[in-house]
Amino acid sequence: MLETNFLIIGSGAAGLTLAVKLAEKFPKKKITVVTKAHQSESNTKYAQGGVAAVFDLEEDSFQKHIEDTLIAGDGLCDKAVVEMVIKDGPKRLKELMEWGANFDTDADGELTLGMEGGHSEFRVIHHKDTTGNEIERALLERSNQLKNITILPHHFAIDLITEHHFSEREPEELSCYGAYVLDQISGSIFAIKADCTTLASGGMGQVYGHTTNPAVATGDGIAMAYRAKARIQNMEFIQFHPTALYDGKNGASFLISEAVRGFGAFLRNKKGERFMLNYDERGELASRDIVSRAIDSEMKKSGDECVYLDCTHLDIDDFKHHFPNIYETCLQRNINVANDWIPVVPASHYLCGGIVVDMDGKTSLKNLFACGECSCTGLHGANRLASNSLLEALVYSDRIFNYLCKHLPSRTTKAIPEWNDEGTVLLKSSETLQKKTEELQRLMRRFAGVVRNNKDLMEASVQLEILYFETEALYQKHKLNTVLSQLRNMVNVAHLIIQQSLKRKENRGGYFNEDYDKNT
Ligand code: FAD
Ligand code: SIN
Repeated sequence: MLETNFLIIGSGAAGLTLAVKLAEKFPKKKITVVTKAHQSESNTKYAQGGVAAVFDLEEDSFQKHIEDTLIAGDGLCDKAVVEMVIKDGPKRLKELMEWGANFDTDADGELTLGMEGGHSEFRVIHHKDTTGNEIERALLERSNQLKNITILPHHFAIDLITEHHFSEREPEELSCYGAYVLDQISGSIFAIKADCTTLASGGMGQVYGHTTNPAVATGDGIAMAYRAKARIQNMEFIQFHPTALYDGKNGASFLISEAVRGFGAFLRNKKGERFMLNYDERGELASRDIVSRAIDSEMKKSGDECVYLDCTHLDIDDFKHHFPNIYETCLQRNINVANDWIPVVPASHYLCGGIVVDMDGKTSLKNLFACGECSCTGLHGANRLASNSLLEALVYSDRIFNYLCKHLPSRTTKAIPEWNDEGTVLLKSSETLQKKTEELQRLMRRFAGVVRNNKDLMEASVQLEILYFETEALYQKHKLNTVLSQLRNMVNVAHLIIQQSLKRKENRGGYFNEDYDKNT
């Protein structure tokens, strides 16, 4: 058993920002960050477009950013949260810059601001097309300088420790006492007892397979919180990014940033028609849900497997300067952006819902906090405005920090039981797990994708139940490993997406069900 003051699960923008702040404020306290892969591996690392925040007070205003966020959220945002996050944003970004993060500036040293879908002004702060990598670099460098932060890479959090693990009776208010963690190198499982635990475990794109998210995004934190009986909400609002690079049978993975459309690229179908203006007067810069559905509709009409992003009319030197990573990645796949259209498809990208938190990042369990993509704060409502998620991660880790400064949790006297896997055996081959994971991903793409309907969702629910019992049987009999644990988590997350989709009896924001009127 390991003991720590603050346990943070995840080393993306949300987790590391919190770790740095706590370590600086409380030099005598121990901050332990567990992360399931290399310490930099996260959705954060792959963020391209940037961070939305109001820096240009002449053309832009907090009010305009607030309105754009509320419009995207389609009536389900919490206005107080939106106002708080947007007004706090520039302060959090300045802090990040003080910690060493570099963002693009012009010849006068002023931040250069990008444009993305749904924004009424240029306000996206960026580092070329690798903004997330720069943020992750700066945060890791800072964290590694602070002696009271221990980052444990290749450590996989399996389950939160609550009264369920040591008490016969469930108390009225459940508390969190840390987590059981798998050392992925040695295979051993141990408890980390913590005064306070924060889930900063990111998104769940892998539940769909074809995704812009890296392999670590399997919704573990949400599944752990769900099993621990925390409140989970808005899981039906999956954001599909319209322009992931189409990669034949592998579907999609590499993102072609929305900033490329902000830069003037056109979407075309195979016949060469620039179709977006038939769907929305904002054309390519309509919000993501509208662009994704338009592409879905074009693909269904034509039977084609993708549409195209045309950059051939743009200044290619300027393009290379702004998007060096996208340019090079396309070139590696024999796509010369100067002459060739880029094949693109919508892919699962971001989860607008998650673990419900209040304005201090508190979940419904005592001593359990959540921030970043795994949380549901009320900022995004039914659809997230582009580049508002890194912003949310930065602001909410600061909110949790401020809360903890005022309400420092004390050490629990409860005896935490060791992980018990008596009677379980090693799983000999991972082939079954791989097959079941692919089955789940196919099921989610087929029945719970960009456009849903009630019959498909019911079918998904029936098929998922079978998969659930099969996975639970594997879990009961075998020693836990990463793939089995992830499969179990993804099945839980898929269940939440399907059940919460079935409960929504209207079309709203990023949720579209063909059984309901478009305008409901
Ligand atoms: P993450 O950065 O995903 O970090 C989660 C961490 O938790 C990882 O370290 C992971 O390994 C760890 N973890 C997960 N499960 C476990 C477990 N069981 N045990 C231990 N560790 C675990 N947003 C923007 O605002 N602007 C953008 O331009 C932008 N571009 C994007 C481009 C791409 C390709 C992608 C995928 C996302 C983009 N997003 C963007 C979204 C944004 O990057 C994420 O929402 C944000 O980075 C989430 O930060 P986070 O700290 O909450 O989670
Ligand atoms: C992008 O660069 O298109 C992603 C921006 C985001 O997800 O906010």
